[in-house]
Amino acid sequence: MARILIGFAALAAFAAAASVQSAATPRARASVQRGLAIAQQHCAGCHALAVNAASPNPEAPSFEAIANAPGVTAPSLRRFLRDSHNYPAAMNFTIKRAHIRDLADYTLTLRRPGYKPDI
Ligand code: HEC
Repeated sequence: MARILIGFAALAAFAAAASVQSAATPRARASVQRGLAIAQQHCAGCHALAVNAASPNPEAPSFEAIANAPGVTAPSLRRFLRDSHNYPAAMNFTIKRAHIRDLADYTLTLRRPGYKPDI
């Protein structure tokens, strides 16, 4: 996946904040907000967390690409994150159980009906 690194950090942060607002219930919003904070701490070194952003690690798909990949659902994403044996080699860590739902909830706020992968 060829990606061009662009420095739209402010725009990315705005987009992330906007998607946090869009979650339905206060409880879901809190989960999404925690998920974003966890991702900023543990995932942002490699993955783009916001829409229309390029990942710092070009091998790592953006969270937007993950959220919009065919077949990805909340359960499938949580299942993937729970089982660190299936992680790509670059992800040489495990994710705390307590973080999994929040991470999946945040990631899935990036779903867009008209999403098109940028090749
Ligand atoms: C050290 C870099 C690095 C970090 C940190 C990292 N990832 Fe990844 N991740 C990758 C790479 C590289 C891939 C793609 C590997 C491939 O496609 O072979 C990937 C792929 C993924 C995928 C898609 C897997 C698939 O099969 O399509 C998910 C979901 C994911 N990462 C979630 C996370 C989450 C959540 C975090 C934070 C808790 C995280 N990653 C932190 C490097 C990283």
